[in-house]
Amino acid sequence: MYNELEEIKEHCLQCKKCSLYKTRTNIVFSSGIPNNKLMLVGEAPGYWEDQKAEPFVGKAGQLLDKIFECVGFSRKNDIYICNTIKCRPPENRDPLPEEKAACKEYLDKQLEILQPKIILICGRVALNTFLPDKSSITKVRGQWFDGPYGSKMMPIFHPSYLLRNDSREKGSPKWLMWQDIKEIRRVYDEIK
Ligand code: URA
Repeated sequence: MYNELEEIKEHCLQCKKCSLYKTRTNIVFSSGIPNNKLMLVGEAPGYWEDQKAEPFVGKAGQLLDKIFECVGFSRKNDIYICNTIKCRPPENRDPLPEEKAACKEYLDKQLEILQPKIILICGRVALNTFLPDKSSITKVRGQWFDGPYGSKMMPIFHPSYLLRNDSREKGSPKWLMWQDIKEIRRVYDEIK
């Protein structure tokens, strides 16, 4: 599993399939130990991810770590994290359709190699990749969908959205995220 992923990463390091190679500092391939239980797919690397070659290391990533820790998941040991595209779009703009299309084969390979039981679809861009007929994360977050290789997929709010919404009141985005992460933990424990 590990060697196969390293091979794909090597391809990414050489990749010039879209113009993002011109502005990237690093490829952001993944973090966490490869495992076949839990995978989170985010949107695209931001400034700090591009600098450090690791997904979700900025403020949003730190919040994500806290959310996972609340239900006993260790980011390093329990979750394989990657993004729909592996290079940072300039100024953190949304990835263009041609950039997503060019990068899709790498995400597809990660999925094929790992065949995770649970896939967390984090944010709008990832939602569009996995469930293109669903346009609103607010409407579908917290629901389970059938995913590739027999997986269960759940769309969840992106942590940068949570950072912009401070309330913890019942029904707020943070409160909803708390319900979702507890449900994710419950299903994770069932498939153990
Ligand atoms: N946001 C994402 O979607 N992915 C990252 O890696 C960082 C921020």
